[in-house]
Amino acid sequence: MENICKNWTQWLKETRFSYMTEEQKSQTLNWLIAVRDLLIQRADIQKGDKVIDLGCGTGLMGFGVLEKFKDEVEVIFSDKFEDCIKECSDFLDKLNVVHNASFLQSDCADIKLPNDSVDKVFMRSVLVHIVDKQPAISEVYRILKKGGSFNVFEPVIASNTRYHELVDPSKIDDFEEFKKAEDDFMTDSNNSLVNFDQNTLVQMLEAAGFEDGSVDVDTTVSKYFADRKTIEKWFEGKPSPSEKSMKERFMDYFPEEKVNKFIEQYVLALQNTEVEIKTNTVVIKAIK
Ligand SMILES: C[S@@+](CC[C@H](N)C(=O)[O-])C[C@H]1O[C@@H](n2cnc3c(N)ncnc32)[C@H](O)[C@@H]1O
Repeated sequence: MENICKNWTQWLKETRFSYMTEEQKSQTLNWLIAVRDLLIQRADIQKGDKVIDLGCGTGLMGFGVLEKFKDEVEVIFSDKFEDCIKECSDFLDKLNVVHNASFLQSDCADIKLPNDSVDKVFMRSVLVHIVDKQPAISEVYRILKKGGSFNVFEPVIASNTRYHELVDPSKIDDFEEFKKAEDDFMTDSNNSLVNFDQNTLVQMLEAAGFEDGSVDVDTTVSKYFADRKTIEKWFEGKPSPSEKSMKERFMDYFPEEKVNKFIEQYVLALQNTEVEIKTNTVVIKAIK
């Protein structure tokens, strides 16, 4: 594979964009900024608030808050992985702005902060990478002050368009076998990417103690021109540094040779056509 991802910061800065054209990359960056601004606006941050960006990665949420509120709020950049903490710390040094920011290397299922100590928690696309989400959600409840808010954005991948839905079955040998395999790994309760939807998240929030809030689900249908390179990247791209690509997932069911033949037939069936792909996301604001 041409771009082996070693860690989260590399994945966030390079790998996730590697199959995109410059135009798609710019659209994705604009979309990320829009998501960030929406979450910040909904959180209703007040002067003096203590804010934590949990699973900060390269600091999308934390730097968004800093840009808007400077040193009027306290911002904690927190992530399980050292490379993310270092990336945010180095970036903050380069920014050379007044700030009241700190860094905390911590698993979000065991946050090294006291009870009732934070006003606003942001988590963008983090729960989707954690198999057992309940401990993390309960930890957020524990560290929030009464009246504080948990502001979440997650992709709901389980109800996205599946690969087999895009293609004419008659063009693929053993189509039913591949469909069955895809349906199997897309409903695997041990796969963090697909073992939840908005309803299961709400149940976990309630189990943690959250009683109030709002849940907004959005479905987007995007049209893509699918050329060979783009389709091949769908199969090769990894959703995170540690998770399997689609090709690797199919290889849990079939020998590589058979998967390669499937991918080739899939490319031939779809290339140079316009495809419509449905993706789902959820935005939650839960109040303690
Ligand atoms: C898709 S990235 C999102 C990064 C950032 N929130 C953003 O919006 O760009 C997922 C992040 O979750 C972090 N992460 C994964 N598992 C974690 C855990 N158990 N505790 C804390 N952070 C975790 C990863 O290190 C990574 O930075």
